[in-house]
Amino acid sequence: MKVLLAAALSVPLLASAHKAILPRQATTTPVPTPSPPISQGLPSGSALTPPATGSTLPSVSFSLAATNPTAIPVSLISSGTLTTATIPLTTIQPAGAVPTYIPGAPPLPDLSTVLPSDYPPLDKPPPIDHPLVKQWVAEVLASGIDIPNITVTVLGGCPANPEAAADQSRCWWTCGGCVDDSDITTCPDKLTWGLTHDDGPAPYTPNLLQYLSAAKLSTTFFNVGSRVISYPNTLRDAYMAGNQIAVHTWSHPQMTTLTNEEIIAELGWTRKVIKDVLGVTPLYWRPPYGDIDNRVRAISKAMNLIPVMWTRLSPTVTFDTGDFNVAGGTNSVSQVLSNWQNIISNASTINTGFIVLEHDLFLQTVEIATGYILPAALANNPPLKITPVIDCLHKPWNQAYLETNDNKTNPIPNPNEGKVVINGTNGGGAQAGGGSGSGSGSGSGNSNQSGGAVPSGVVHSGLLAIAGSVALALFAFLA
Ligand SMILES: *[C@@H]1O[C@H](CO)[C@@H](O)[C@H](O)[C@H]1NC(C)=O
Ligand SMILES: *[C@@H]1O[C@H](CO)[C@@H](O)[C@H](O)[C@H]1NC(C)=O
Ligand SMILES: *[C@@H]1O[C@H](CO)[C@@H](O)[C@H](O)[C@H]1NC(C)=O
Ligand SMILES: *[C@@H]1O[C@H](CO)[C@@H](O)[C@H](O)[C@H]1NC(C)=O
Ligand SMILES: *[C@@H]1O[C@H](CO)[C@@H](O)[C@H](O)[C@H]1NC(C)=O
Repeated sequence: MKVLLAAALSVPLLASAHKAILPRQATTTPVPTPSPPISQGLPSGSALTPPATGSTLPSVSFSLAATNPTAIPVSLISSGTLTTATIPLTTIQPAGAVPTYIPGAPPLPDLSTVLPSDYPPLDKPPPIDHPLVKQWVAEVLASGIDIPNITVTVLGGCPANPEAAADQSRCWWTCGGCVDDSDITTCPDKLTWGLTHDDGPAPYTPNLLQYLSAAKLSTTFFNVGSRVISYPNTLRDAYMAGNQIAVHTWSHPQMTTLTNEEIIAELGWTRKVIKDVLGVTPLYWRPPYGDIDNRVRAISKAMNLIPVMWTRLSPTVTFDTGDFNVAGGTNSVSQVLSNWQNIISNASTINTGFIVLEHDLFLQTVEIATGYILPAALANNPPLKITPVIDCLHKPWNQAYLETNDNKTNPIPNPNEGKVVINGTNGGGAQAGGGSGSGSGSGSGNSNQSGGAVPSGVVHSGLLAIAGSVALALFAFLA
């Protein structure tokens, strides 16, 4: 039974979804078309020009404090040329195992009850008419958190959305790097690196886990829900080994292009599959491509998810290694290592710590991390402190997850989560006037109940339909 889950392998789908949309780094650079595997040779200075099919990439100079003696040579880490074996998991974590480093953590659930057929199709935006999505929409609505009524963006980033890009009130990170107080963009302490890896769990995640374990390091994984269906045991091993598990959506879309309900479905299913596989629900997430604005922020807040970005010092100095694009042939390994050299050099000039964008989705990204970036970071002078994000923020481990969070000392924004009940017998009550329900949230001692109407401005047009059908117990507690 457990083995069945691992059979659904669809990394290529996700990869093509990534590349079809935006460059990984949220800039105004035109979208590079995925190209076949290549290496070496373009005249230097053309790194920003997407290589034409069959062309080659420039080799960029870099220098690192150290490399792993067993690292695969840079020249070999290019698309399609590597055949490194995946390392099998050393341990299949059994049901009932408890991660002792997280105070109050529940035992691991029985994986045989986690059936892919109970979840949406992989790597596609989940349908919004599922009763659970309606339930989550009702919870967001009942949170009392103001969801700005701003238009969705269209694919194509800033050039395709000139009005939205110019609208400062959206605080759209993609166009200008606007951040909100609630966004985690750095670690507080100088020379502290809040390590993160996105898009797994994936076939080579165990190789990264083996390196991290040997180096006594741990990271924060931003996991794609579809990949959790494919590799649940890898997620369990990462979690039990002391890595922070966080949310990275179900199908890796640009969140500002989605309606409120679509955003809720992406986050809700990812939270749920992680909870079903680990027994805990993450309280942190990362928007794919860093694509977040005040509407996406408000919805994620209502779903008790704190956004974690990566450090950005200016439009041209963003702490993105560019590692994602190596597998598709649109970035060279030497460019990634040169980017890393710039990141680490810029990091020592700022008074805070930092967060960097890296991925565990592909063999190439894992080889670059374990062969070069992490060994260089460990040998860096001045020395770096390297921790998962929850640690670098000086937060205790129990605050990484809903079930272990002490709600008295660390109140969550929406204590209604899991408590709003909608009437399932009427199509979930999500049609206007089509059902009713009972807001049963009793709060948790940290909430102030307010009147029974949705304050104007709270309801986005897309959510309006449900307003009439849910009897709201409205909590206006705002963290
Ligand atoms: C910071 O990074 C940029 C490239 O992103 C690079 O041009 C610059 O030299 C770096 N600054 C330092 C102090 O290393
Ligand atoms: C905190 O609240 C959440 C959501 O209501 C709940 O699941 C969790 O058990 C609470 N934490 C503790 C330690 O009781
Ligand atoms: C929920 O639906 C059932 C069956 O249609 C109905 O009997 C009940 O009254 C409904 N509850 C509310 C609160 O409307
Ligand atoms: C609830 O409201 C009262 C009075 O407005 C305020 O003093 C208190 O701080 C509020 N509690 C919370 C948890 O917001
Ligand atoms: C949201 O804004 C649009 C115009 O941009 C408007 O038509 C709609 O009525 C607004 N919805 C709410 C709930 O305010």
